Amino acid sequence: MPHRLVLVRHGESSWNQENRFCGWFDADLSEKGTEEAKRGAQAIKDAKMEFDICFTSVLKRAVHTLWYIMDGTDQMWLPVHRSWRLNERHYGGLIGLNKAETAQKHGEEQVKIWRRSFDVPPPPMGEDHPYYKLISKDRRYADLSASELPSCESLKDTIARALPYWNDVIAPQILAGKRVLIAAHGNSLRGIVKHLDGMSDAAIMELNLPTGIPIVYELDDNLKPTKPMSFLGDEETVKKAMEAVAAQGKVKK
Ligand code: 3PG
Repeated sequence: MPHRLVLVRHGESSWNQENRFCGWFDADLSEKGTEEAKRGAQAIKDAKMEFDICFTSVLKRAVHTLWYIMDGTDQMWLPVHRSWRLNERHYGGLIGLNKAETAQKHGEEQVKIWRRSFDVPPPPMGEDHPYYKLISKDRRYADLSASELPSCESLKDTIARALPYWNDVIAPQILAGKRVLIAAHGNSLRGIVKHLDGMSDAAIMELNLPTGIPIVYELDDNLKPTKPMSFLGDEETVKKAMEAVAAQGKVKK
């Protein structure tokens, strides 16, 4: 029997809506994002999917998305595990900046490198950054060692901190026969997808995950996908949602 895994990127956040680099800033869902999460829940309900255990980050846009899905599928009782290791990638000094304005200033190519390259990190967040204290001194990260607490992360760095959680905590649950739901973020999920599908560093640059549309995997006992990921959404909607994410880094005409 293959193992089923469902991944959901949180619905649109208020900072997605304002087109700002968000990273570890704890923006909540926008009204549209709440609707997306509820639609994701309905799609899971329509597919009659049940879960045994849920994982999410320590950021409320992902936690709320998970809650809407649990509520919409009448599974509020499920165990939920939160970890900073599933957080969005830490966008460093870019946090708070408007993506289109950043493209205007530094060029669309540079913004694409910052957003999508595998191993080029954004500039670090210095102590003079307006959100430094709010994020770096937040008590939810008090147990992280100095080397674990990032000041910025490339996708490679994001994968390096997410994978131990995948390997040590999530994978054993899947292998024990548990049906797992993960509600997380564009880049922490891109990291998991890259790992599962064995994607190259170049191929992952072109992958943009849509908000709120559940992604379904079937995995064998080596946790290798038995077929390509599928979306619980119609093809046109998924395509448009992916293109919209890619376009966030373009200069506004
Ligand atoms: C953010 O942190 O700004 C977004 O959630 C993901 O951003 P990206 O699509 O620009 O990587």
